[in-house]
Amino acid sequence: TIQRTFSIVKPDAVKRNLIGAIYNRIEKAGFKIVAAKMLHLTEEQAQGFYAEHQEKPFFGELVAFMTSGPVMVQVLEGEQAVERYRELMGKTNPEDAACGTIRADYALSLRHNSIHGADSPESAAREIAYFFAEDELCARD
Ligand code: CMP
Repeated sequence: TIQRTFSIVKPDAVKRNLIGAIYNRIEKAGFKIVAAKMLHLTEEQAQGFYAEHQEKPFFGELVAFMTSGPVMVQVLEGEQAVERYRELMGKTNPEDAACGTIRADYALSLRHNSIHGADSPESAAREIAYFFAEDELCARD
């Protein structure tokens, strides 16, 4: 089944000029980017996006990092996109990420881990709607 997933190129990767390198990995893996934009998240946007982590000890640092510079947000389409994109990213902590994954190759630390990806189809739908209107998603063939 063709699915959509949601992805963020985080501030640490944008700062190091890795947008193109990461998009290249995404496209080479067969995903189609159907929407994308650069944003400098406000504190409110970052807090709302990561609301499920509100009670975690790292929440403040997560929000501070995610608002520290521009990010790229994008919607990816492909076969089993949610699961396959998580495999392409690698584990959250780059020290645990398999060789050849985006995080193994580019992430600096658990916090500065270069990319985000939705963890389920339900999260993907919520996260896509958080940043994009339906008419901002382009049909690709
Ligand atoms: P992400 O997939 O964007 O979802 C939540 C983020 O919180 C996660 O990636 C990590 O970058 C970050 N995170 C998770 N655990 C910790 C932690 N223990 N300390 C700091 N940041 C964390």
